[in-house]
Amino acid sequence: MNDCLGMRLAYDEAQKARVQAPPNPWVGCAIIKEGKLLSKGHSAQAGGPHAEINALKNIDAEGATAFVTLEPCSHHGKTPPCTDALIRAKVSRVVVGIEDPDPRVSGSGMRALKEAGIDVAVGVLENEIIQQLGPYIKQRKTGRPYVVLKSALSIDGRAAASDGTSQWISSEGARIHAHRIRAESGAILVGSGTFVADNPKLNVRHGECPPKQPLRVILDRSGRIPDIPDDNTVITNLGLSDLLDDLGKREILQLLVEGGPTLHASFLAENLVDRLLIYQGSLLLGDSGTPFTKGLSIPTLSSGLKPKLDSVQHFDQTILIDYRM
Ligand SMILES: NC(=O)c1ccc[n+]([C@@H]2O[C@H](COP(=O)([O-])OP(=O)(O)OC[C@H]3O[C@@H](n4cnc5c(N)ncnc54)[C@H](OP(=O)(O)O)[C@@H]3O)[C@@H](O)[C@H]2O)c1
Repeated sequence: MNDCLGMRLAYDEAQKARVQAPPNPWVGCAIIKEGKLLSKGHSAQAGGPHAEINALKNIDAEGATAFVTLEPCSHHGKTPPCTDALIRAKVSRVVVGIEDPDPRVSGSGMRALKEAGIDVAVGVLENEIIQQLGPYIKQRKTGRPYVVLKSALSIDGRAAASDGTSQWISSEGARIHAHRIRAESGAILVGSGTFVADNPKLNVRHGECPPKQPLRVILDRSGRIPDIPDDNTVITNLGLSDLLDDLGKREILQLLVEGGPTLHASFLAENLVDRLLIYQGSLLLGDSGTPFTKGLSIPTLSSGLKPKLDSVQHFDQTILIDYRM
């Protein structure tokens, strides 16, 4: 089996940990011996075993190759170092997707393996893994969460009808998909306008649930929102940069910004968005509907923001367009 195929197995395995592992990285591992897959494993909930430990359970890995999407850890955190487990298992080769940007690792895991006489290769499926682990990498490198901005829009780019109603622009299948994005996010943010207009629950109600519901964050500069006695809700008037710094300190890897148009305009104007998800419903709302952004001023075509199209999919009557900024 070539390295790309082995790493593809590890990559697919990592996807299974995307909701449960944060604030730890979601990592996958595949153990291959003499061209045959011996086992696979992915990271458990934070505090539980890492991908390598799960993959090494109950197998004889002597002389095998371990494919791991992220560099194995070499420090004692809540669990012992994965490098020790790989050395003890006598694997002969470790293929790593990317070096761990966490300063407690950053190359030391690969050094420990090499010092134990294990052949180490790095950089297989690197670009895909960088995208897969985008939120983890951003939080470790910048101290801020990866920002996903999501909006449901009509065909003519409206986020609400002229009377402020917006439920629902997208169809049910799309809304279930949006719950998956919520499940992958450590926090969900709305502006006070949306909170007053829609009273959104901002929790995960469909599909796989995270160990803890995302933190609910409401931006309210003028005290429009009454105090909510709930440990999982924060009402704040921080500027966006300070808010991102604060959420990063709380180990939020991904922040989902769910509107509305005034808040979206601020995030885009300050260049704070990493990923843009547009759910385009089969609906026209006309000139008087609320636009996607309110307050974002772009004087000429050449100054337009140019997100890069990543993928398109559809759920019954809604198209999901996924962009990277
Ligand atoms: N289609 C969709 O996906 C979608 C999603 C959400 C909402 N909506 C619709 O959008 C409408 C509400 O949108 P909206 O534009 O009126 O309100 P909004 O964007 O939800 O909230 C804007 C308000 O948030 C507060 N705020 C605090 N800090 C801010 C900052 N840094 N930048 C921007 N705002 C900040 C400000 O009010 P204070 O100064 O009073 O604090 C501001 O007026 C509703 O009709 C809702 O149904 C649609």
